[in-house]
Amino acid sequence: MQVNVKIRFAASLIVDLSVPARHGCALLQSANSIERSFTRNRTMTHLFEPLKLRDIVLRNRIGIPPMCQYSASDGIAANWHFVHYGSRAVGGAALMIIEATAVAPEGRITPGDLGLWEDRQIEPLARIVQFSQEQGCVAAAQLAHAGRKASAGLGWQAQRTLDASEGGWTTVAPSAVSFGEGYAVPRELDEAGIRQVVAQFAAAAHRACEAGLQTLEIHAAHGYLLHQFLSPLSNRRKDAYGGSFENRTRLVREVVAAVRAKWPERLPLLIRLSATDWVDGGWNVEETIELCRTLRGLGVDLVDVSSAGLVPTAKIAAGPGFQTEFAARVRREAGVATAAVGLITSPAQADHIIRTGQADMVLLGREILRNPYWPMGAAQALGHAASWPPQYLRAAPAGSLAR
Ligand SMILES: Cc1cc2nc3c(=O)[nH]c(=O)nc-3n(C[C@H](O)[C@H](O)[C@H](O)COP(=O)(O)O)c2cc1C
Repeated sequence: MQVNVKIRFAASLIVDLSVPARHGCALLQSANSIERSFTRNRTMTHLFEPLKLRDIVLRNRIGIPPMCQYSASDGIAANWHFVHYGSRAVGGAALMIIEATAVAPEGRITPGDLGLWEDRQIEPLARIVQFSQEQGCVAAAQLAHAGRKASAGLGWQAQRTLDASEGGWTTVAPSAVSFGEGYAVPRELDEAGIRQVVAQFAAAAHRACEAGLQTLEIHAAHGYLLHQFLSPLSNRRKDAYGGSFENRTRLVREVVAAVRAKWPERLPLLIRLSATDWVDGGWNVEETIELCRTLRGLGVDLVDVSSAGLVPTAKIAAGPGFQTEFAARVRREAGVATAAVGLITSPAQADHIIRTGQADMVLLGREILRNPYWPMGAAQALGHAASWPPQYLRAAPAGSLAR
């Protein structure tokens, strides 16, 4: 039986949703068999359709984007990380991208960042990954190098470069150009330094595999090192890594190829890009699309399409779903799977993005900080029988399944 629901989610937008009525599934029916039956059901809610990337099947289209917790020491995950990521894995998202995880100590945004530059960082991450998998949530790591935006205060402290007495360090970048007021002028990387960065990403990918992670994301967005190479505003080099589009994108291509070589063939590789700097003369959507066409051939399975972060003066036209159009263009014009992110907050909005083919996944950041159980609530709102942890079944809507 079908019910038609009209839901208003953005000021000017009304969607018609054709959702299945509440299913009378046996309480303890396995989540897998229900997902299979939904796959056969053409009227399924698309937000809850599984997605296969290489050998990994994501149980729905809801992901959690990377969000720094600034709570690690020496790059090692702490109790906070276990509880924070654990509760979000319980919440029902299919994919959880763990925060920016530095490939080198000088690549940390702040002294509190996670890292994978040495082996002792593997085990505490592995514990989070294992628990997430027990909940049916695929854990990914976001491998990152902050470049000229490294050595900054924790997220809730003043945003500027820390000096040595505050635990800061010398930053590196494609060119000796500061991010902005309060930020140090970075040291320009020479070619040996660039080769080292590529090797650091590859070594971190190997450690991510040792930690049992099932997906990797390369952070090439938000004004961090790889994005600094892409944008002509931060890359003033005259060598093979600067100038033309081919040269500015060289490091990203080298990092992707090196990571792909270390990362198992059967596991997906994602990349996060800022589709635009939101500044005239900066990195733009057309260049993003062009780069994504190449990245697909290098083994990138999905592009996580964000924007901005390169300069503090960017004029960003933010609003509900404001970056979704970039994900839609990359998906359509580069022919690669995408995730949409940025002010996606309601089940109807998220479902609409998937149902209309604008993206293959939606990532909800701050909304899932506010409510880790958002995916289970969205399932209820859209009439999908989600799986719940058996420990919580007495609080679940009728017809819910045990995980
Ligand atoms: C506390 C916090 C930390 C973040 N840390 C990261 C990060 O580590 N890596 C990254 O690529 N984006 C980071 N972001 C950006 C988010 O991944 C996301 O793109 C952004 O919050 C927009 O999505 P939203 O509107 O759903 O929150 C962070 C955002 C927040 C709120």
